[in-house]
Amino acid sequence: MTDPLTPYGNKPMVTPIVNAVNYHYASFEVLRQITDGEIDGYTYHRDDNPTVRAVEKIIAVMEEAEDCVISTTGMAACTMIYLTYLNSGDHLILFHDIYGAHYKVSLILERMGVEVTWLNASDSDHISKYIKPNTKMIFCETPSNPLCKIVDIRKIRKAADLVHALVIVDNTFATPFHQKPLKLGAHLVIHSATKGLGGHNDLMAGAIAGTKERYDDLWFTRQAIGTTLDAYSASLLERGLKTFDMRAEKMSQNALAMAEFLAAQPLVKRVYYPGLPTDPGHEVARRQMHDGFGGVLAFDLGETQEEAKAFINELKLIYHAVSLGATESLICIPYLTTMLYLPEERRTGFGVSPNTIRLSAGIEKTDLLLKDLEQALKKVPQRLAAKA
Ligand SMILES: Cc1ncc(COP(=O)(O)O)c(C=O)c1O
Repeated sequence: MTDPLTPYGNKPMVTPIVNAVNYHYASFEVLRQITDGEIDGYTYHRDDNPTVRAVEKIIAVMEEAEDCVISTTGMAACTMIYLTYLNSGDHLILFHDIYGAHYKVSLILERMGVEVTWLNASDSDHISKYIKPNTKMIFCETPSNPLCKIVDIRKIRKAADLVHALVIVDNTFATPFHQKPLKLGAHLVIHSATKGLGGHNDLMAGAIAGTKERYDDLWFTRQAIGTTLDAYSASLLERGLKTFDMRAEKMSQNALAMAEFLAAQPLVKRVYYPGLPTDPGHEVARRQMHDGFGGVLAFDLGETQEEAKAFINELKLIYHAVSLGATESLICIPYLTTMLYLPEERRTGFGVSPNTIRLSAGIEKTDLLLKDLEQALKKVPQRLAAKA
């Protein structure tokens, strides 16, 4: 029978969106071969889907991994890792300056009997001090969200090897364009593919890349709990990946230009961006990142949140919105958004202030972005005066 997708052998340039929940079996023998893992085949969407699988293969190549598991969101990917590899009584090391939702997940893990230690990025220099015989996992982001702190992945791996713990690196901020955590010693690399990989603010997805063996472990969890991505989002993700390299390059050029510009402004008290030679993470970032330092930066504006809000309210091109890694530049105050639900001491205890601003560079023309920042900065004193 002619395959309707490839009549006369011509193949579609785009992976078709297969919305099927289930597949009618060609025969009992084919069913057996699929379920025994002898052939790649599809039976039920929660197990696997061809549109999703095509994107998994692309991301595996990008991360130089044997395989990749895609999930519904970045947090689903993180949680799948925790559920797959942690048991009651195990010890997990996390870093304060990581995406806020990990705090909530850590509360669930603690309820389930996992012991959690939170460290500062600076503690990573002597991380072996915090390793215990029951340490099973060290999870980090580098650069981190939102302060773009850098941890030395090779050093973390060395310490983890003392007790055969797993090293998991969230590569969302760096993206595979700038950093390959698996090459640096991570056992698994994860992404919120909602961000730079997708890149257009129109899909949510997570991705985990590593060895084939770990793919099997994580596939088991995904199949069990049902965090399989829908085919339409997978297709959008595949489309986003086609322009990923160009976007990542431009985003990091824009981020560096904005970081340099902001660092020279009297109203800006501090800029956090590993691409600046003055940044405490610069030296390590230069060793483990390449072709730039990613598209996200943070900075403290003035002394108060009112000043930070006044600045954001004056921006014309840069959008006041959460998320990052998109075609449009996005700006937000983490204290009021991504970190809102953390206890007060956690929101400020590791360097974030009420007036810290996170800025994710888009792919706009650099001079337009700099002009937007400049005109908004000029108006902050006026705006505050008008309010007073
Ligand atoms: C670094 C990082 N990791 C993970 C996540 C969670 O991703 P998602 O929103 O796709 O669940 C985010 C979300 O902002 C993030 O910034």
